[in-house]
Amino acid sequence: MASTEPRASLVVRDERPDDREAVFATHAAAFERPDEAELVDRIRANGHARIALVAELETVLVGHILFSPVTLQCADGAVDGLGLAPLAVAPANQRAGIGGALVRAGLARCRALATPYVVVLGHPEYYPRFGFTNASAHHVDNEYGATEAFQVLELVPGGLPARGGLALYGPELRP
Ligand SMILES: CC(C)(COP(=O)(O)OP(=O)(O)OC[C@H]1O[C@@H](n2cnc3c(N)ncnc32)[C@H](O)[C@@H]1OP(=O)(O)O)[C@@H](O)C(=O)NCCC(=O)NCCS
Repeated sequence: MASTEPRASLVVRDERPDDREAVFATHAAAFERPDEAELVDRIRANGHARIALVAELETVLVGHILFSPVTLQCADGAVDGLGLAPLAVAPANQRAGIGGALVRAGLARCRALATPYVVVLGHPEYYPRFGFTNASAHHVDNEYGATEAFQVLELVPGGLPARGGLALYGPELRP
């Protein structure tokens, strides 16, 4: 029976340059298209990968998560945060807690960097378990016309401006 508890041999670590091919293959397989894999390459090449972690099972790369800069434009100026995108777990290893381990480890890094907030455009049934809530409840808008899928997590008290604003991703992710 599938378990959402990660197996004991799971290791989450920083991405290394020699992980590139396996990271590309993992995203391409998980999303069943190359778009997200190519997106990771572009973000990395532009020096915008602020946090990039891989998950390994018995030294085989089975998952990857990336965080890149986001700016929240609000009435009083701009507040910098991070956007979680993309996240992928190899199809054969899904529903075993690996995606959750990557998200938790990534958010721990975000907290260590005193990141005020993190946004994600993703499955509305998946991210609330990590504390994400609908961004519209915080008056945080997006450029994609996303509603339930656009979610936010405040990591520092007051990290999100009370009146919200418009979240702008980096150039690789702009519509
Ligand atoms: C989404 C994804 C990263 C989750 O990783 P995972 O290792 O399979 O997930 P976990 O084992 O940590 O968590 C499993 C839970 O997530 C849920 N889940 C998995 N994929 C989901 C999806 N696409 N939508 C909603 N919930 C999902 C499972 O139903 C399960 O829920 P349960 O604990 O209530 O049974 C992985 O399935 C994946 O790579 N999917 C394809 C690419 C993708 O959609 N990436 C995310 C873009 S937002």
